[in-house]
Amino acid sequence: MAKEFKVGFIGAGGIAHTHAKNLKKVEDVTLVCAADVSEKGLEKFTKEQGVTTVYTDFKEMLKKEKGNIDAVCVCTPNGLHAENSIAALEAGMHVIVEKPMAMSSKECHAMIDAAKKAKKHLVVGFQYRFNPKTAILKKQVDDGEFGKILYVRVQALRRRGIPNWGVFGRKDLQGGGPMIDIGVHASEMAHYVMGCPKPVSATGQTWTYLGNKPMQALGMWPNWDHKTYTVEDLAVGMVRFDNGAIMTIESSFAAHIEKDIFSFQIMGEKGGGTFDPIAVFKDQNGYMWNETPGFVPNDDHFAIKMKHFVDVCRGERENASTGEHGLMVQQILEGIYTSAEKGKEVLIKDL
Ligand SMILES: NC(=O)c1ccc[n+]([C@@H]2O[C@H](COP(=O)([O-])OP(=O)(O)OC[C@H]3O[C@@H](n4cnc5c(N)ncnc54)[C@H](O)[C@@H]3O)[C@@H](O)[C@H]2O)c1
Repeated sequence: MAKEFKVGFIGAGGIAHTHAKNLKKVEDVTLVCAADVSEKGLEKFTKEQGVTTVYTDFKEMLKKEKGNIDAVCVCTPNGLHAENSIAALEAGMHVIVEKPMAMSSKECHAMIDAAKKAKKHLVVGFQYRFNPKTAILKKQVDDGEFGKILYVRVQALRRRGIPNWGVFGRKDLQGGGPMIDIGVHASEMAHYVMGCPKPVSATGQTWTYLGNKPMQALGMWPNWDHKTYTVEDLAVGMVRFDNGAIMTIESSFAAHIEKDIFSFQIMGEKGGGTFDPIAVFKDQNGYMWNETPGFVPNDDHFAIKMKHFVDVCRGERENASTGEHGLMVQQILEGIYTSAEKGKEVLIKDL
């Protein structure tokens, strides 16, 4: 039997429910408490997840639960990630913080420093690196099957998928639109598969042309709040890494394309591959081969992510989603946004 691991939540909305369900599957984990500004949200969390100790102020929760809970899941809007995580680390708790890690690389640095000072684990809630298809491509790269990685094309494109709940259209609370919200998923897994090279410069552009107007065509999430919509509809960027590799990222909540795409394509000197559909491309015996795995495990990456978090905190495995990884992903996103604002390429060291 493992030692009991007690968890609290800051933010008890959509993703907190997913995490609660998956944490319940991990041996000897107890969900102790939750904090949210919404009493209605807390009522739902109590009813559906069985968490009866609730707070409307996260600071009060941290004060009262200090020494009682081992860890906190930060599941608030992006603009609160740094404040919530640092406060929890300072209260002596391990932290898993939802993606994106924060609003800026400056905030990420402060979070990393707080974790070091508190000697607690900081895990960034990236789940796509735990996806079984990501693992297949990562193994190819790690085993040298693709040779030197040259270029990665990342796509997180929705034809019409502006969230009609939460605050995803609010730049002040989220930091941006599709690039920071879904581009982050595809970028973190692609960057992880590449071997986490250091980003050195970025160039990019963003456009807003549909989200800030009343709905013109029916999509999967109709009638978003167009009046408060201040984020981009489409963002495109290019990032240069210290090993000479290049990544391009295309991300949209709304774009005039045939269908949604969520994938990345990796090209190396010896081989390449795609995430969706999962495939590997190589030259063998004088021919060009397209290979697909005969079996891909159907494991849920959200469940793997939460088990990984608990295992890391229990000292049973290395952190595969560190604050340093989160920082580099943030630098990629921030580099693209900053370049779009300035209208020129930016150096990551100047962010
Ligand atoms: N990993 C994933 O696949 C994934 C999926 C969805 C969302 N997310 C991330 O999770 C975070 C939350 O997204 P969501 O979809 O759950 O949004 P949500 O709107 O459903 O939930 C956010 C919750 O935070 C609460 N909140 C707001 N301000 C607060 C404060 N000051 N103190 C305490 N609680 C506060 C809100 O009341 C709400 O209940 C975002 O950062 C988002 O990017 C990640």
